[in-house]
Amino acid sequence: MDAEFWHERWRENRIAFHQDRVNPLLERHHHRLLPGTPDRGEKPVVLVPLCGKSQDMWWLRERGWHVLGVELSEIAVRDFLAERGCAAAPETDGPFTRYAADDIELLVGDVFDLTPERLTGVDAVYDRAALVALPPDLRRRYVEHMATALPERPRTLLITFEYPQHEFDGPPFSISPDAVDALYAGARTVERVESVDALRAEAGLAARGASALTEHAFLLTGTRS
Ligand SMILES: C[S@@+](CC[C@H](N)C(=O)[O-])C[C@H]1O[C@@H](n2cnc3c(N)ncnc32)[C@H](O)[C@@H]1O
Repeated sequence: MDAEFWHERWRENRIAFHQDRVNPLLERHHHRLLPGTPDRGEKPVVLVPLCGKSQDMWWLRERGWHVLGVELSEIAVRDFLAERGCAAAPETDGPFTRYAADDIELLVGDVFDLTPERLTGVDAVYDRAALVALPPDLRRRYVEHMATALPERPRTLLITFEYPQHEFDGPPFSISPDAVDALYAGARTVERVESVDALRAEAGLAARGASALTEHAFLLTGTRS
C-alpha cells in the first residue's frame, strides 16, 4: 500500500471512506480530548493524521480547535478548502506543502516525515480511518513514528473498524480492541469508550462482503515512564 495507491484513489475519486457527515463517535466523545489541555491562551491544536478531506476537521474547528491535518493527496486538501470557500496559497514547509486558512492548517505530504519540532504545541490527536488504512507492518511503524513525533503523548481519540478480516482485503483493515491494546502496550493507556454496530452505516463495506462490522472508539492517554 504505497503512496501511489492513495494518489490513484484520489485521482479516480474512489474515496468510499469519505463520510458525508461528521462521525457520530467524534460528536459523542470529542470532549474527552480536552481534559489536560494546557491553557496557553491560544486555541488548542488537534492533529488529524491521514486526514483526507474529512468533514470532521471543519466540525472540530467550529468547536474551537486549531486543526492540523496531514494528507498525502493534494487533491484531497484542495477539495477540502474549495468545498468550504477557503482561499489558501500553498507554501513550502520542509518536506510538506502547507495550506493554511482560518484555523485550518493542512500539510500535504507523508505522515512519516512529521518531526517533534513540526508538532510542537499539538494538544490532541484525532485518528479516524488512519490506523485502519494501514496494513500491519506499516501500522506498527506508524504507531512507533507517532510516539517519537509526539513525545508529550497527547490525548488521542482513535476510531477503528472490526470485521471478519477473511471476508475482504483492507483498507480499511480490521483492528480489534485486543489489537489496539497490543499496538499501544507500554506506551499509552487505552480506554474503549464506545463500540457500535456500523454495518448499516457503512453500506460500502457490507457490499464488499462484511457480514458484521463494529466501529470502536478509544481514548489513548498517558505517557511512557
Ligand atoms: C482511509 S482514508 C481516511 C481519510 C480521513 N481520515 C477520513 O476519515 O475520511 C486514508 C487517507 O490517508 C492518506 N494517506 C495514506 N498514507 C498516508 C501517509 N503515509 N501520509 C499521509 N497521508 C496518507 C490517503 O491519501 C487517504 O486520504
